[in-house]
Amino acid sequence: LKDSRVVSVGIVGVSGYTGRELLRILQLHAYVRITEVYGETSAGRRLHEVYPFLDKNTASLEIKDFFKEKHQAEFYFICVHHGKAQELVASLVEEGKKVIDLSADFRLKSAAIYEKTYGVKHKYPGLLETAVYGLPEIYREEIRQARLVANPGCLARAAILSLYPLLREEMVDVSAPIIIDAKTGTSGAGRGLREDLHFPHMNENFKPYAALYHRHQPEIEQELSFSTDLNISFVPHLLPVDRGILVSSYVSLKANLSKEQIAAVFKKVYAGEAFISVLLSGYPELKGVRGTNNVHVGFQTKDRRAVIFVALDNLLSGASGTAVHNFNLMAGFEEKEGLSALTPLYP
Ligand SMILES: NC(=O)c1ccc[n+]([C@@H]2O[C@H](COP(=O)([O-])OP(=O)(O)OC[C@H]3O[C@@H](n4cnc5c(N)ncnc54)[C@H](OP(=O)(O)O)[C@@H]3O)[C@@H](O)[C@H]2O)c1
Repeated sequence: LKDSRVVSVGIVGVSGYTGRELLRILQLHAYVRITEVYGETSAGRRLHEVYPFLDKNTASLEIKDFFKEKHQAEFYFICVHHGKAQELVASLVEEGKKVIDLSADFRLKSAAIYEKTYGVKHKYPGLLETAVYGLPEIYREEIRQARLVANPGCLARAAILSLYPLLREEMVDVSAPIIIDAKTGTSGAGRGLREDLHFPHMNENFKPYAALYHRHQPEIEQELSFSTDLNISFVPHLLPVDRGILVSSYVSLKANLSKEQIAAVFKKVYAGEAFISVLLSGYPELKGVRGTNNVHVGFQTKDRRAVIFVALDNLLSGASGTAVHNFNLMAGFEEKEGLSALTPLYP
């Protein structure tokens, strides 16, 4: 390890769930020094007051107010909610920093679709053109060159990974409906308090939400509509678990394909991908990926119908893990740096 390779990093929104996961991962990263951390209501406190379990190198860092500080790190992770992130991102880009934004503010290429989906005005539409959608499995080379990466939504990443190979290889009958049935743990909503996410309400409960109108649908359509608009029904459900996403995507195939033939397409399209495992038997499950940056993919098929199953951890592969994957590409590090030590918590 040469000191000259160490990159200084700032985390904006360190007190939230994705910010906390970034702290955990970046402490395992050999070439990162976290030099600045920012919060809103937590500003003025030291990190160990918010997270008593941190290692001593970062524990004493003070959480600061973004708008009152000089920003001196090379890279910034933005872990705040959509609408709020825009301004922080734009000012850092203007200052010449490299930025990975975990919010939805720079994912959609169309400001009009963003405004319709999120009900927020986009103040920096010019930046939408330069932002690269941070899905390494599709945009690896663009991410390497990017100054601003828009990290995908957690459900969107799972849904896109489930459908991209068969659509790209033109094996899906796109005139037929595509159904994306998604289940997610409650940490996907962040750490804010909400009555419908309280323990007595969520525990042993299970329910759909935002059916057919979820905000990740335009993002999924943007990334998957190769030649024609797709007929997608996207229905997420809330699971009474802390973390984890399981997506089941239903498609009609142009021709009969065996499970092995479908697996072969996925293995070809995702060949060499560090975090994607194609399971030939059994089904992906949350406990196989929980706490890791891994994505497990499985299949079932019958009479020109196929179901693709994808499991990932919403806070890792769905957020902070992929953000570090993107960071590694942008900074020229090995793709798994900081991420390979994360193995599943089981049981
Ligand atoms: N949770 C997931 O699974 C997930 C997955 C993919 C993407 N995302 C996206 O990632 C972003 C963060 O999500 P999250 O779940 O980590 O949210 P969260 O737990 O609700 O945390 C948001 C954090 O933003 C901070 N913040 C707000 N305004 C700020 C400002 N002006 N300067 C600095 N910090 C500020 C807050 O700090 P204080 O505590 O100090 O007030 C809070 O800790 C969101 O855009 C979300 O959509 C989340």
